Amino acid sequence: MHNAAFAALGLNWRYLAFEVEPKNLRAAIAGARAMNFAGLNLTVPHKLLAMELVDELDESAKKWGAVNTIKFQPEGAVGFNTDADAITRSLREDLKLELRGAKILLLGAGGAGRTAALKLVSENVAELYLVNRTPSKAEAIAGEVKKQFPSVTVAVGYPRAKMDLVLNATSLGLKADDASPLDERQFSLKQTRAVYDMIYRPAETQLLACAKAAGCLTANGLGMLLHQGAKAFEIWTGRTAPLDVMRRALEQSVYGH
Ligand code: ATR
Repeated sequence: MHNAAFAALGLNWRYLAFEVEPKNLRAAIAGARAMNFAGLNLTVPHKLLAMELVDELDESAKKWGAVNTIKFQPEGAVGFNTDADAITRSLREDLKLELRGAKILLLGAGGAGRTAALKLVSENVAELYLVNRTPSKAEAIAGEVKKQFPSVTVAVGYPRAKMDLVLNATSLGLKADDASPLDERQFSLKQTRAVYDMIYRPAETQLLACAKAAGCLTANGLGMLLHQGAKAFEIWTGRTAPLDVMRRALEQSVYGH
């Protein structure tokens, strides 16, 4: 999506992917800077580690406690977070979801789940339920949420009430034989209006297929991927991201059509 956007704006830039071991992340960032890279994106498992490795943190990275974008400035490497805003932007665009006052069941308490939980409560959702295979991690996020946003109702475990949204932030669904991230004995898909799966490949996880069959509105994580990328593009280039071009390029590269 970035290379398509560079081409559309006539920028002689390139976006390249490198696989870096966490033990080499510091050297990789310094090396990229030495080679006059404009910036970097970082993905799992580097987003927390990078907090310690940049020279300066933008407000977004401070607020959400993770760095997925670096811009090299003359003074040093600045860390940003473009993931958090992308989550809520995609929920609004793709599900027409009103976040203020919403009741949400969030599955997953890894890095993506944590960012989603903090961002959602900052948008004044009414109730947030956290479910995770390892409950202690959901408890830790619930504690962090309560500390930062004392007025929000946050609980660990499945709700009995109806929800506006079930949001999957686990990695379950990436593989065809994965179990569902949702225990339907504890929470029926009939209990929610919409389901969002952060996974975008496959385009329709089993969770989304079941949600559709149950009559829910559904969306996958492509919009989130698009918007975190578009924001990073704007940080590096200072230009408005050509969203349509980027979306088309993403669809082409992820789904082949
Ligand atoms: P990310 O940064 O993408 O969130 P992560 O931090 O590794 O990646 O988090 C992965 C999430 O998927 C976690 O919520 C994880 O549950 P645990 O906290 O219990 O590890 C969840 N997950 C991964 N594999 C799982 C599985 N087989 N069953 C249930 N949950 C799983």
